[in-house]
Amino acid sequence: MCGIVGYYGPQDPKDVIVSGLKRLEYRGYDSAGVAILNDGKFKVVRAPGKLGELQKKLETEKFNGALGIGHTRWATHGVPNERNAHPHKVNGVSLVHNGIIENYAQIKERLRKDGVEFSSDTDSELVAHLIARKVKDTKDLFKAVQQVLPELTGAYSILVVWEDQPDTMVAFKNGPPLIIGVGEKEAVIASDVQAIISHTKKVMYLEDFEVAKVQGNKIEIFSATGEPRKKEIHQIEWSAEQVEKAGFKHFMLKEIHEQPRAVANAIAPHIRLDSKTVQLKNVGFSVNSLDELAKVDSEKDALATAEKLKGIERIFIVACGTSNYAGMAGKYLLERIAKIPVECDIASEFRYREPVIPPRSLVLVISQSGETADTLAALRLAKQAGATTMSICNVRHSTIDRESHGHLYMNSGAEIGVASTKAFVSTLGILNVFSIYLGRLRQAISEQQEKEFVDALLAAPAQMEAVLAYDRFFAEASGRLKAFRGLLYMGRGINFPLALEGALKLKELAYMHAEGYAAGEMKHGPLALIDERMLIVMVAPHDNHYEKTVSNLEEARARGGKIISIGTGDDPALKGISDFYLSLPKASWTINPILEAIPLQLLAYHVADAMGHDVDQPRNLAKSVTVE
Ligand code: M6R
Repeated sequence: MCGIVGYYGPQDPKDVIVSGLKRLEYRGYDSAGVAILNDGKFKVVRAPGKLGELQKKLETEKFNGALGIGHTRWATHGVPNERNAHPHKVNGVSLVHNGIIENYAQIKERLRKDGVEFSSDTDSELVAHLIARKVKDTKDLFKAVQQVLPELTGAYSILVVWEDQPDTMVAFKNGPPLIIGVGEKEAVIASDVQAIISHTKKVMYLEDFEVAKVQGNKIEIFSATGEPRKKEIHQIEWSAEQVEKAGFKHFMLKEIHEQPRAVANAIAPHIRLDSKTVQLKNVGFSVNSLDELAKVDSEKDALATAEKLKGIERIFIVACGTSNYAGMAGKYLLERIAKIPVECDIASEFRYREPVIPPRSLVLVISQSGETADTLAALRLAKQAGATTMSICNVRHSTIDRESHGHLYMNSGAEIGVASTKAFVSTLGILNVFSIYLGRLRQAISEQQEKEFVDALLAAPAQMEAVLAYDRFFAEASGRLKAFRGLLYMGRGINFPLALEGALKLKELAYMHAEGYAAGEMKHGPLALIDERMLIVMVAPHDNHYEKTVSNLEEARARGGKIISIGTGDDPALKGISDFYLSLPKASWTINPILEAIPLQLLAYHVADAMGHDVDQPRNLAKSVTVE
């Protein structure tokens, strides 16, 4: 959480930094600030609230230097106000920080004893003090950073500048990402490539305990102890257009509409259209690093993947939030198609519950950002336990992507709305692919069944297009829907995780009480919630649970609940007992969740919008949760 941008170059740093922060605002929006060189001094301008507040303050500000840093904050230590906004400036040293300094209390106590006075309640300011004290002796910012590094524990990425070296910025990290854009006579350092792509598509990824020194046009990377590091330069695949709203009111709405393409892009690399079979392409088991993955021999890698996965006897799927719900749907797919036992865990639970990971286990982590702290910790724990690991990420070269043994990609393109949408359906697409692949590998499905599953998957993007027509329905119905006291989402089987996902979307966007339940659990408690002010959203496609789900709906209706049901085709029975009936195209049980996601997302989006909420930046949240 928190977004960082630094710029050195011929353009106006104010413009570059503010436009970069705009693209990073999804990482936090409690306050924002910049420190930009002007007449040899770093002028700090900060404002509480969203970036717009800072922009107002900056309208009249002029800077004549070539260097600056900026920050958009998700508050950890200290309430969100101007005093706690970054950058923190101490004796000419200005610093921005993303993360948490865990030994903050000890450092503060030590500094306090030395008579230091603090101007904020943050842990970040302490690092500025430590560097400012060291630089007095070293007379060199890079050397001062090197000396401070061993004093810090926690997760952090930090960018720092010093007035006595007005052509230099130094970046270092342990945990949250920092990416260095290598331009023509310019350098941009940021938490995410989205803040870099308008300037250059050439980037370097800083690793933990590496220190980057940008001095004029020269970019150098060192280990924490000062050995120079040679870094590979990567080409960003996303385009600048992908991070614009393209005429939609919100990024989230744009991203909902991009979903058919996202699913097509996720599955395409792994499907052979001629034979309607699945082959996992370039998973990376034949190589040791992502740098090598770019040049992998596909045939050799396919053999290595089959070899690696053939002996797997159990799968653990580990993720957070929406990625976890995609993983839960994956459990149903993998168990039914590939006949392999699957456990699905919330990463923050998995990492601390001392899980028993038997030999021949595969730990599959799912993360759109590839930076979620708990998911990353779970991945590391699985590796320590000797498990084979794979990741499904959207952001390539993210930490989770880099650290996992095998790699599958969502290929959704940039997802900017804090509420995850297209990454969810892309993951469902990839989990379909993976289940079919393992099903064949384990001889749990026949060639004919493989073809049928692949056909169903290939039909999904066009079917999704049709479901997007519900955009208008929810835009019109949102006024009525927002009046309910709460919403209860229900489904059975693979539709149960969709009920959880629908409820999560509504909670995070509309701030309304919503619960997701397995429909069979209703009589065990939740039925008591139902009255005429409760809206029930029943996910009831035509599958092997249909009859039972309809009975559950009858029970809810008898208690006065109002009902939206999501079913298959023209379903007079379901329609007859629902206040609103939403029809999905007839699809395989494996594809239904991909279609169901769309009306659930649109419901949450339009209700939140009708309530006047900031859909792309819901309160108290950040897109990338890089602290636990
Ligand atoms: O980047 P990740 O997929 O690891 O993120 C996991 C969750 O933080 C994320 O899905 C979150 O729940 C979304 N805001 C939900 O819309």
